[in-house]
Amino acid sequence: MPKSAGQPGHGPVSGHAAAAAAGGSDAIRLQLRSWPEVEAYLQRCRGVIVPLGSTEQHGPTGAIGTDALTAEAVALEVGRRTGVLVTPTQAFGMAEHHLGFAGTVSLQPSTLMAVLHDVVLSLARHGFERVYVINGHGGNIATGKAAFAQAYSTAAARGLPVAPRLRCKLANWFMAPPVMAKARELYGAREGHHATPSEIALTLHLEPSLIGKQRPLPEPAPPGPIHGPEDFRRRHPDGRMGSDPYLAQAEHGQTLLELAAAALAADLQSFLADDDPG
Ligand code: NI
Repeated sequence: MPKSAGQPGHGPVSGHAAAAAAGGSDAIRLQLRSWPEVEAYLQRCRGVIVPLGSTEQHGPTGAIGTDALTAEAVALEVGRRTGVLVTPTQAFGMAEHHLGFAGTVSLQPSTLMAVLHDVVLSLARHGFERVYVINGHGGNIATGKAAFAQAYSTAAARGLPVAPRLRCKLANWFMAPPVMAKARELYGAREGHHATPSEIALTLHLEPSLIGKQRPLPEPAPPGPIHGPEDFRRRHPDGRMGSDPYLAQAEHGQTLLELAAAALAADLQSFLADDDPG
């Protein structure tokens, strides 16, 4: 779609990222902006980043907040590199299958769908046209995509001016090709499927207090299909699925953060630049 005269672009104009950098990394945090600042931002950029995590068990040594901590860190780093605003983190995700373990807090799929739908509609009402959700939890993927479909439908039904241009994208940092390649190189098959050393490594980098919890663990149960929280705990008694989080090191986490941020920042730039993304 050609840009109409006077229509601001989706992406940061030249100097915007530099301005954000000059204001320090906090400049891209929506929480710290005033409404006139957001209004001014919308004159030059119609993109926004929403970090999406989960609050769920990550094996006997991993932090409950792993998926939210990692999604937020990647989102803030992508925001710093691109100058795109970052909303507060949605730290509760769809984690029904982890409810057999203490500390897990889950939203039902329908609840998460309603939350993401309302977040997108709120942003769209102000003129945001590109909503880039940086996700840290595989269990959110199906629901996130369903929420986007619902949001497009509601934006059109409400007659929001941005409805024809509204696009949402789910970016799973842990599935970025350079991140997956590095995880394979570092951990091979010991990466596993849940409480993976790659995500744990990132938390060790972000929160050094977690390093002291690391200890050798027995052979994990292999990954496999699960059918609800009781079945999960029966098949995977300590919460891990084929992973060895003891292999995680803070330095790996720093590297993985760098790789994830670089890959997602490039992906975000093309998402913002494309007037008709698929
Ligand atoms: Ni996780």
